[in-house]
Amino acid sequence: MRPAFATAGQCRYLHWSMTEVLQADAVGIARAAALLRKGSLVAFGTETVYGLGADATNDSAVASIFAAKGRPRFNPLICHYPDNYAVFADVIASKDARRLAAALYPGPLTLVLPRQCDCAVSLLASAGLDTLAVRVPAHDVALELLRETGRPIAAPSANRSGKVSPTAVQHVLDELSGRIQAVLDCGPCPVGLESTVLDLCAAEPVLLRPGGATVEEIEAIIGPVRRAHGVQDAPRSPGLSPSHYAPTLPVRLCALDVQSNEALLAFGPPVAGSGAVFQLSDAGDLTEAAARLFAGLRRLDEEAAALGLVGIAVMPVPYSGLGRAINDRLRRAAAPRT
Ligand code: TXA
Ligand code: MG
Repeated sequence: MRPAFATAGQCRYLHWSMTEVLQADAVGIARAAALLRKGSLVAFGTETVYGLGADATNDSAVASIFAAKGRPRFNPLICHYPDNYAVFADVIASKDARRLAAALYPGPLTLVLPRQCDCAVSLLASAGLDTLAVRVPAHDVALELLRETGRPIAAPSANRSGKVSPTAVQHVLDELSGRIQAVLDCGPCPVGLESTVLDLCAAEPVLLRPGGATVEEIEAIIGPVRRAHGVQDAPRSPGLSPSHYAPTLPVRLCALDVQSNEALLAFGPPVAGSGAVFQLSDAGDLTEAAARLFAGLRRLDEEAAALGLVGIAVMPVPYSGLGRAINDRLRRAAAPRT
């Protein structure tokens, strides 16, 4: 690997393959916004995970997201906005949507709503649907970037297709270095799980993906929410495909013991016996576990491969609050590869 080298001002260093790493200061944000406006790809941190951003109104910029990720085209993208006003200029607000946005934005919740007929967002971002997924991220740097860019930013998680979502700038570089113009270094993502995706297009709200905003919070505002079921709802949310979040090694769930040839993803006091252990939360705290989940899967995948281990054993995580989203991700990590 060639050495990183310092430049004055705009970029802290150029990664060996020329993906710029920008600091999250006024100069770095201005550079990121300028790159986005001219159609380049810029990854940036949000409260949930890093997003791979493009100007959502620029078709070829949006198309280049799919290329950089190696992502199947039929997956629609989330559009990010600086405030609720900008959101509802592009999608048709229902009463529930307004109430949720008023209570939970900025925050880790994505709403799927019908596009306004004059919506300027690329149709490619909707992947052929007449709906658009929208959210306002709760992250000061991301909000500043959105304001400075002056356009909605389409951004899937900034990983190669089928891999775990990145929660730190190094994860983004590991997978996308040389494939994107720049990454804005926003530090580690505090929530560490993707946003909750809620479909509000039909009479009954449908949870398409559990995530950073809990169902309990949402139901307290709009009443009962139906959980999506694979076959019936799959065409509406391709991200529900069972093996979507997969490390390289096989994953064994609800492990009450660990074999000598397995790495261990621990939650609470670890079961004895493994060399490679990643602790999600010593104290059994689900928020801490969520924030560390993807980093843990990545770390164990690398360490286990280096140590010649053959799999990752995962200790049970309770199904309450954020535990639902954690278990959802773990189930996908353990599903047979498609
Ligand atoms: O936290 C997050 O949501 C991150 C950050 C960067 O905002 N983004 C993210 O994007 O996780 P992505 O593309 O990895 O996941 C978006 C999910 C997918 O499951 C996709 O199928 C669903 O949202 N989705 C997007 N647009 C949709 C639409 N119009 N209808 C139904 N589902 C949609
Ligand atoms: Mg993703």
